[in-house]
Amino acid sequence: MTRPIHTVGEWRRLRADAGLEQGTLGLVPTLGALHAGHAALLRRSLAENDVTVVSIFLNPTQFDDPADLESYPGSLAADLATARELGVDYAFCPTAGEMYPFGYRYRVTEDDASRRLCGARRPGHFDGVLTVVLKLLLAIRPTRAYFGEKDYQQLDLVRDMARDFFLDVDVVACPTVRHPDGLAVSSRNALLSPAQRALAPRFPAALAAPGEPAAAARRLAELGFAVDYVEDRGDRRYGAVRLGGVRLIDNLPLAAASEAGS
Ligand code: PAF
Repeated sequence: MTRPIHTVGEWRRLRADAGLEQGTLGLVPTLGALHAGHAALLRRSLAENDVTVVSIFLNPTQFDDPADLESYPGSLAADLATARELGVDYAFCPTAGEMYPFGYRYRVTEDDASRRLCGARRPGHFDGVLTVVLKLLLAIRPTRAYFGEKDYQQLDLVRDMARDFFLDVDVVACPTVRHPDGLAVSSRNALLSPAQRALAPRFPAALAAPGEPAAAARRLAELGFAVDYVEDRGDRRYGAVRLGGVRLIDNLPLAAASEAGS
């Protein structure tokens, strides 16, 4: 049975009364619209911790585009049913007022890595992400927090923030979950038309093809994607494209691209 929790106060009382500080606690932060990628994070947390909490909060501060926030899919009832099926212990489902009692007066700003890749195209996005993740970590106080590698830039920023602010949490990276055709599982896939969904797997395939990022970007544009960027950073290739109004992101280790070519 997944118990829904709506306020930080309620969670803190329960945490103390149930003696949850004694054991390990895993947190899987989500925007809702739970899918197979979230299920993999939740299963990992369930296997590694005494208690697992999923947070379900459509965080408005990380959406730079109101239409994107408006169209974001999801239903709390369906998410709670998924959490129940997986055996998740608690679902933290706060309101925006609960998470932002002072509006957005206080926030986390990162001044370097968050300005690149997705951050360069979505102003303020990572401030919103880091702010809400910090709030969730301080409110829930997990032993471990689980993040998917599909959002690799986010994962890196959260990991560095936890280190920089001396947060007592283990940030656990989990591999990207993909459909059999290679498309990374994402809540936004549900917004694709059948024709866009059929084209979408060409995106990870183009990222994995050997060659320079510019060649991958050209190939994607020829296929009909609107390309936000394809860039190599460190040992990974990152990309973001749009199909109609739907933005897809992905990344993979550069070794995967050279293996695809060999
Ligand atoms: O990756 C997401 O779903 C969100 O950015 C997160 C980490 C839940 C913060 O709102």
